Amino acid sequence: MRRPGVQMAVIGVVASVIITAITLLIDWFPEQASTSAHDVDLLYDVLLLVSVPIFVLVMTVAIYSVIRFRARPGDERDGEPLHGNAPLEIAWISIPFVLVSALAVYGWVVLNHQEDPQPDTMLVNVRAGQFAWRFEYPQPGGQSVRSNELYLPKDRPVRFRIKTDDVIHSFWIPEFRIKQDAVPGVVTITQTTPSRAGDFHVVCAELCGVGHSTMRQQVHVMEGDRFASWIGARRQALVAAAPEPGRQIFTTYGCGGCHTLEDAGSAAETGPSLDGLAEVHDKRNPRLSLEAYVRQSIVDPKALVVPGFRPDGMPANYSRQLTRGEIDALVDYLARASSSSSGSGIAAVRPAAGPPR
Ligand code: CUA
Repeated sequence: MRRPGVQMAVIGVVASVIITAITLLIDWFPEQASTSAHDVDLLYDVLLLVSVPIFVLVMTVAIYSVIRFRARPGDERDGEPLHGNAPLEIAWISIPFVLVSALAVYGWVVLNHQEDPQPDTMLVNVRAGQFAWRFEYPQPGGQSVRSNELYLPKDRPVRFRIKTDDVIHSFWIPEFRIKQDAVPGVVTITQTTPSRAGDFHVVCAELCGVGHSTMRQQVHVMEGDRFASWIGARRQALVAAAPEPGRQIFTTYGCGGCHTLEDAGSAAETGPSLDGLAEVHDKRNPRLSLEAYVRQSIVDPKALVVPGFRPDGMPANYSRQLTRGEIDALVDYLARASSSSSGSGIAAVRPAAGPPR
């Protein structure tokens, strides 16, 4: 063919159409499981549609020129001198500039839309560490439900606050089309709305050490009511495992230094045993309620001294050392911990070792 420019253009256009069609037909991503997945996939297709033809055209010109214009054996001539081509230079600067700027704006619009504030957004704190993810669901009252797998309700917006305990990781859920780095010293945020129930994966997408490839865990998207019962059960377990404030006061103020109380792990015998206190109380002073009897014994220990113990053995200044709230908590705790049949959730304690001395 006489005109290499025309020949190149024809080959380039045909190759572009074929290769672009192939790249668009390939299924690049897993199933779409969030409301923003479709927008991201469309953005990706537009990027392919714009960049693949340019790449193929450039490669066509390069490969064609290498083959067609190579020096023949024995050809020692210099190449033809060239002095630039202003229209061509303007074209190859301005067209890419417009294309790249437009794509940047388009990408920004998609990202911005994904991060739009949504009503009724659930917050999940994500902790990255070599080499596992941990998830925390903040609860009213300051505690968090913790989980090693990510459980999410379908159709509810969720916002992830991402932190790392060590190096940079990247929080990636391919089915949701979200990815956000976890950076030391910084809290990063990403957001999505799961739109499909099922099991997916959260993957680390940043080389973070020898265990990087194992840093992937399950994501479970459930219907709203199933999620509610999951988090409800976790919340109950949290309450059951919460530290008993009365027991902490018992330990902090050294009550166990003198009194036996199995629930608090003390076995001292300087003062009366508090195990089976309820039965002792029933026999000794049924006119006062158990709580009132315990309270009196703390704030006014001389009022009723258990026979066989020194009247000044119990310091009389606890009513000044402890706040009113602390005394309330301690009384409540002792009344429950010392009665073997309270059923209050405190481990059952053994009955009194014997009748009061
Ligand atoms: Cu964490 Cu890779």
